[in-house]
Amino acid sequence: MAAVQVTETLPRHVAIIMDGNGRWARKRHLPRQAGHVAGVNAVREVVRAAIDMGLEALTLYAFSSENWKRPAIEVGALMGLFRLYFRSDMNELIEKGTRVRIIGNRTRVDPDIRAMIEDSEKRSTGNCGLNLTFAFDYGGQEEIAAAARELARAAMEGRLDPETITPELMSSRMFTAGLPEPDFLIRTSGERRLSNFLLWQSAYAELLFVDTLWPDFGREQFLEALKQFTKRERRFGALPEAVA
Ligand code: IPE
Ligand code: IPE
Ligand code: MG
Repeated sequence: MAAVQVTETLPRHVAIIMDGNGRWARKRHLPRQAGHVAGVNAVREVVRAAIDMGLEALTLYAFSSENWKRPAIEVGALMGLFRLYFRSDMNELIEKGTRVRIIGNRTRVDPDIRAMIEDSEKRSTGNCGLNLTFAFDYGGQEEIAAAARELARAAMEGRLDPETITPELMSSRMFTAGLPEPDFLIRTSGERRLSNFLLWQSAYAELLFVDTLWPDFGREQFLEALKQFTKRERRFGALPEAVA
């Protein structure tokens, strides 16, 4: 396979930073929570589109480890919506073959949320449809530090030779082990930053920043974004074939 690819195909793994709920609500003189409620419908639409298209993996950034800094009322609303979404949508998604994963620090969320997450993951382990992952109480730096901590412990205890630590080994210690690395990362709402999302995994992801606020992002916007991806030339450090 040539190192340089013009991707006429769909990405294998799309990761999305779902941003702009608060601004969507403000424009309508509504409380920020109303934006999050509207955001859930966008999640539904994009997940459905991903399944229809036969995408291999979709990872959605739903709550960052920094989002705890928001007012308690907003944090509570986001937790409540996460619960509601799982209770209303997960059974059907799992029945359709979706494999569910939640990446992040699950020690800080309420025990009932933790139980719900574990149940969905367990019930969908054998599924081979869309790999649907929610990053929830997730932070990329924390994830990398946790991997380093685990490897350091193994080395200290003599179970690991530090010389054998490779990028592949590091990848296998990330929450996303077993998934292809994201090849397409989309952020809505016009912000152009990663906000601690999939830092390790996105080394060669194509990035797309769109101005649409997350609640206004649906199937049509998703298909348009995927079209953008197909026009990208992926080089992975090599030269395009015409030059090489
Ligand atoms: C994204 O929308 C949702 C979460 C971070 C949970 P925001 O709530 O960040 O919306 P803006 O950026 O304030 O518009
Ligand atoms: C990133 O959005 C987190 C999620 C989308 C869940 P934020 O709105 O929290 O990020 P910053 O604060 O603008 O960087
Ligand atoms: Mg935001």
